[in-house]
Amino acid sequence: MIKDIIEISKLAGEIIRAGFKQNFEIEYKTNSSNLVTEIDKKSEELIINYVKKKYPKHGILAEESGEKELDSEYKWIIDPLDGTTNFAHGLPIFSVSIGVVKGKEIIAGVVYDVISDILYCAEKGSGAYRNGSKISVNKRDDIKTSLLVTGFPYDIKENPLNAVEHFNEFLYNSRAVRRLGSAAIDFCYVASGVFDGFWEVTLQPWDVCAGKLIVEEAGGLVTDFDGNNYEILRNRRDSVASNGLIHNQMIEVLRKNSN
Ligand code: IPD
Ligand code: CA
Ligand code: CA
Repeated sequence: MIKDIIEISKLAGEIIRAGFKQNFEIEYKTNSSNLVTEIDKKSEELIINYVKKKYPKHGILAEESGEKELDSEYKWIIDPLDGTTNFAHGLPIFSVSIGVVKGKEIIAGVVYDVISDILYCAEKGSGAYRNGSKISVNKRDDIKTSLLVTGFPYDIKENPLNAVEHFNEFLYNSRAVRRLGSAAIDFCYVASGVFDGFWEVTLQPWDVCAGKLIVEEAGGLVTDFDGNNYEILRNRRDSVASNGLIHNQMIEVLRKNSN
């Protein structure tokens, strides 16, 4: 199955690459920060058609079409373009993110960083890979010297989960904090030892699914803000991903502004 996920991620990546910096339609979803382009939709259509043809009995949860056939044992969790705001503004940081869940467990995940042409993948129990080479999280154990990354939800103005307060607190407690604009790539940079940790409130299953497995298979940890593991298909996914060594320190920082 991983070969198929890789194949379809790269095919979707070709559509996205061809559309980058071209004229494409943009619509607003919930507000003027929350965009969807025709390229998001084209990418998703290609992926869904592929899955339906090759795995007709599998369920699909995909961001733009909101498809839910979640009774089947296997489910494909699809973000056809993670980093739409970057894409729409010509900033080359975005990805295709596809994870497969069996029962409640993520068994495979692929994140394709389209413009860099870097593909991250993992299968449960088999390690994590970046363009075919094994990756692992780094060994930094002090948050004070850590490089962290985060993201903000589209409903930041109403969201009650203190995203800005957390951001300030991490700025004061780390070496530096970045905001790249693709949660899937954020996870993969933790998995490959670039970032020591990533956190974000209220992510969706398609933002997290593949990246969570890739971090875990690279030796890292992904939990909720209380430090507990969580199921990918539950309602809220306030995520902390780290190399494991600074995880408790990150949870402590989050506690300072918890509701
Ligand atoms: C978004 C990106 C961003 C994160 C947002 C996500 P989208 O996904 O991953 O980094 O901060 O919370 O919604 O909308 O570009 O697929
Ligand atoms: Ca996303
Ligand atoms: Ca998306």
